[in-house]
Amino acid sequence: MFNKISIFSIFTAIFFMTAVSAQNTTVVKISKDDTAPTISKHIYGHFAEHLGRCIYGGFYVGEDSKIPNTDGIRDAVIEALIDLKVPNLRWPGGCFADTYHWKDGVGPKSERPSMINKWWGDVVEDNSFGTHDFLNLCEVLGAEPYLAANVGSSTVKEFTEYIQYVTRDSGVPMADYRIKNGREKPWNVKYWGVGNEMWGCGGNMTPEHYANIYRQYATFMTDWTNSDGFYRVASGANVADYNWTEVLMREIPKNLIEGVALHSYSFVEWNKKGSATAFNNEQYFSTMKTALRMDELIRKHTEIMDKYDPNHEVDLIVDEWGGWYQVEEGTNPGFLYQQNTMRDAMIAGTTLNTFNNWSERVKMANLAQTINVLQAVILTKDEKILLTPTYHVMKMYNVHQDAKLLPVSFDSPNYEFNGEKLPAISISASEDKNGTKHFSLVNIDASKENKIELDLEGLNINNLKGQILTSNKLQDHNTFDNPELIKPIKFKDFKLKRDKLTLTLPPFSVVVLEGK
Ligand code: AHR
Repeated sequence: MFNKISIFSIFTAIFFMTAVSAQNTTVVKISKDDTAPTISKHIYGHFAEHLGRCIYGGFYVGEDSKIPNTDGIRDAVIEALIDLKVPNLRWPGGCFADTYHWKDGVGPKSERPSMINKWWGDVVEDNSFGTHDFLNLCEVLGAEPYLAANVGSSTVKEFTEYIQYVTRDSGVPMADYRIKNGREKPWNVKYWGVGNEMWGCGGNMTPEHYANIYRQYATFMTDWTNSDGFYRVASGANVADYNWTEVLMREIPKNLIEGVALHSYSFVEWNKKGSATAFNNEQYFSTMKTALRMDELIRKHTEIMDKYDPNHEVDLIVDEWGGWYQVEEGTNPGFLYQQNTMRDAMIAGTTLNTFNNWSERVKMANLAQTINVLQAVILTKDEKILLTPTYHVMKMYNVHQDAKLLPVSFDSPNYEFNGEKLPAISISASEDKNGTKHFSLVNIDASKENKIELDLEGLNINNLKGQILTSNKLQDHNTFDNPELIKPIKFKDFKLKRDKLTLTLPPFSVVVLEGK
């Protein structure tokens, strides 16, 4: 009797455990698709504005600084950004761009006029970092420059002279002016933003008004055929302003536009942003809700673009994204300096997966902003620099740059909070030119681990290795006293049996696996 009961109980327990584990395992199908797009490396782009300590004190410490530098740019920053494989860098703004007059930032530094940085802290900008500094920096980083032109408070003349200054060979007045200022060869600048946030700081325009202005600027940027091959980006919608995209797509002829932008930030509440580090689970959940909304935003803006551009001649460029919180105590509110925690790693991991999975339409994106501003990848204090959790996610993910997307399909388990639900798991995958496959997985759940089974049939994966980024608390962050609290470590918690890869994702973790 005893034996029968215990055997029965053991069977029941095994059955129950199997059922529960099957129920709790998320099955993910990853397959090859010859028609899948390539993930543009430019999705991994960055943004550096004349804002707070991004340029001054961040990138640029000045040629005479005791901090090791090359032509005034911190060596440690150059090294970290080369490691990150920054594909493009957007400059000089942001809102600043529509106040910027490029001629103030070229020529002998001692003779450059100063101006007021109206949008960001009302501080004096001495123009000591200008176009030569920026474009030379891009060359050192191996990054393509993405210049944002002043449309809001400048003229077509100033803009077209800028293009000539930067891109023309000697023999034309602006190129000769550049040569006089010390640069013989033109730089290679393909990407040009035609204004920034024209619905707001760029001039509070209606989309109809901006569409006309855009047509004017875009016309004078090029010849009839755009033989210089410029890539012109129209200032795009604020978050869910679908009418903005509709009007631009309807009113701008295809021969004048290569990309249309979109800006969307993640936050607790726009008017109640809360601390970057001292946040609770409710604030974390709200932030993730706005971050995950990126998928819906891209889908809906894309639906509008598809209507006017079924052949995908115009790309979607998400040239500002990232987390936005209260500034750190005691810092200038106009400088947007904030710390960076595991919450930011979750924003970065899920958003980059979204961009990868939408790489058919999304061809460029720019995290705001590179150093000391918003969701920065680097923070600096005097001579010290630290790499944030976001830096590590961007670096773990750079394996997807220019790789072919491997489509994924699965039903995510929920991350539940106070009766609300979000998908807990986000995944993207790709195959690079050498046939190496990469899988990036994120579990945003604040307290639950999630078991995953990847069905890799047809991918012929044998050798597998991985990295994980996680920490004890969501609020954990790197500090100047403890700069390596959060950094990727080897991930070993997986089993590969034939074509089935099973693994457990700890709460709030990012995992990237690599196999051949
Ligand atoms: O990234 C900070 C600011 O946010 C940018 O200058 C502006 O374009 C946006 O509103």
